[in-house]
Amino acid sequence: MTSAGPLLSDVQFRKIAGLVYEDSGIILTEAKRSLLMARLNRRLRALSLPDYGAYCQRLDGTEGPAERRHLLSAITTNVTAFFRENHHFQSLARDILPPMVEQARRGRKLRLWSAACSSGEEAYSIAVTLLDVFTDAASHDALILATDIDPEMVDRAERGLFSEEAMKPVDPAQVKRHFQPVPAGYEANADMRGMMRFAELNLHGDWPFSGRFDVIFCRNAAIYFDSPARRRLWLRFAAALEPGGSLYIGHSERLDGPASACFDVVGTTHYRRNLHPVPTTS
Ligand SMILES: C[S@@+](CC[C@H](N)C(=O)[O-])C[C@H]1O[C@@H](n2cnc3c(N)ncnc32)[C@H](O)[C@@H]1O
Repeated sequence: MTSAGPLLSDVQFRKIAGLVYEDSGIILTEAKRSLLMARLNRRLRALSLPDYGAYCQRLDGTEGPAERRHLLSAITTNVTAFFRENHHFQSLARDILPPMVEQARRGRKLRLWSAACSSGEEAYSIAVTLLDVFTDAASHDALILATDIDPEMVDRAERGLFSEEAMKPVDPAQVKRHFQPVPAGYEANADMRGMMRFAELNLHGDWPFSGRFDVIFCRNAAIYFDSPARRRLWLRFAAALEPGGSLYIGHSERLDGPASACFDVVGTTHYRRNLHPVPTTS
């Protein structure tokens, strides 16, 4: 025990890091050890557990599966913001959405996915951008899927409540059009929420949908995965996108590996699905 809390032995660190990798693909290197301790010490206190030995026992016991979800919530980095990397939303509004919206008005469905949505700011930025281009979206088949591995984040995203501070990057005219003031800050309007769906989803697990997407945002999540997991994810995105569909990734991420053949570079961290068949991996 230290003044900051119980100590995490090498064996316990490797066990917990192994479970995190198995469940999420997130790599916890030795450099992340103090971060892990800082976050898990809070969890130990919440559970009134004396040390990491007891915590590891909990992970092995009947509470294990539920605890592993808490472990992921504790370890994921959920930093996000409205209109983060705004050039993506500018390109979406200017170049990508107008032809898609035209087709959607003629009866084609439109599907966008915020694939690591955290507390929802990215998904609502997509929704605001779409509604500004597609004012009559409600009378057509347009949906935005917002998913994250962290159930607490998915709940927050679904609530659609944002503090005044969080809303600062949103243009005041857009705030007026798509949100209403509430005591805690702002709440997303019902018409915007009506075209959004929220779900817990592990990018390395099953994806319970068969249709393809026109646009996928997966930003600042793959950076936490190792190279094989990242490359597998790019391949799955290639298979999940319509030809001509767009993939936006985070500023420090690059699309690499066999999936690169399936994409053309459009702009910084923006790729377009081409007609190249998705390579099989074995
Ligand atoms: C730093 S946030 C990025 C949020 C948003 N995409 C953005 O760029 O502002 C990373 C998010 O990825 C999620 N995440 C991490 N591993 C994941 C996985 N295996 N499947 C789905 N989401 C994951 C985390 O829970 C976290 O909310």
